[in-house]
Amino acid sequence: MKPGATLHPDVVQEVLGAWVLAERREPGEVSVELGEDERALLAQMPWPLRRAEWLAGRRVAKRLLHEALGLAPSRTQVLPLESGAPRVWVGGVAHEEFVLNLSHTRGWAVAAVARTRVGVDVCDDVDGDRIARIARRVFSEGEAETCGAFQSRETQAAVWAMKEAGLKLFIGGVFDPGARAIRVESLSPPRVTANPAMQVALLRLPDAAVAVSRDA
Ligand SMILES: CC(C)(COP(=O)(O)OP(=O)(O)OC[C@H]1O[C@@H](n2cnc3c(N)ncnc32)[C@H](O)[C@@H]1OP(=O)(O)O)[C@@H](O)C(=O)NCCC(=O)NCCS
Repeated sequence: MKPGATLHPDVVQEVLGAWVLAERREPGEVSVELGEDERALLAQMPWPLRRAEWLAGRRVAKRLLHEALGLAPSRTQVLPLESGAPRVWVGGVAHEEFVLNLSHTRGWAVAAVARTRVGVDVCDDVDGDRIARIARRVFSEGEAETCGAFQSRETQAAVWAMKEAGLKLFIGGVFDPGARAIRVESLSPPRVTANPAMQVALLRLPDAAVAVSRDA
């Protein structure tokens, strides 16, 4: 079972009223136009894998902001809030009109932008089984059985993405309250219960699950 509607790479798609874009990761550090603050942050990052994923996130985010909202990459910066959540800056000013979120794996970089809160997460199918290793920490009583989490590595990836996208919607509360706060009720149709209530869309890339979360 591979739950989720198709998300076409390199095409901006509207999902739950948000714009979403996925790019396949390229090896090493991708080229992307960076602003002064972004260059300063990158200069402090010594680890090659972190630099590469951070750049991939910036690239897909800036492409999305350009294609969906017309924001020129030369004037746009994507800088972290204290929580680590991304914030868009245009011409040196924090952009309050839109909320951006992004996610990266070994295979993909995905960004989502909307007028109100949005969370996005991608999970490569090959990494789906990591959820089984931490099942006791992330699932509530009966949750995994009810939603069919362990049917396949694709369902495991889907559940992981739904929980992470849900946590990211809170911007700042990723570890507190933690993954149990998002209860996955069903994969088809995708449905979670959480407080505050949220809606979640589930999408499929060729070898990965993507989830997008919005306030209900
Ligand atoms: C910090 C965390 C956001 C990292 O997530 P991840 O899956 O390792 O990585 P992703 O690539 O999907 O997301 C990272 C991006 O999320 C964004 N982000 C970071 N903190 C965030 C927050 N508090 N709220 C919203 N978005 C956040 C950032 O843009 C970050 O990328 P960047 O630093 O390169 O800009 C967080 O989700 C995490 O580590 N969660 C683990 C909690 C857990 O138990 N998960 C099990 C789920 S079943």
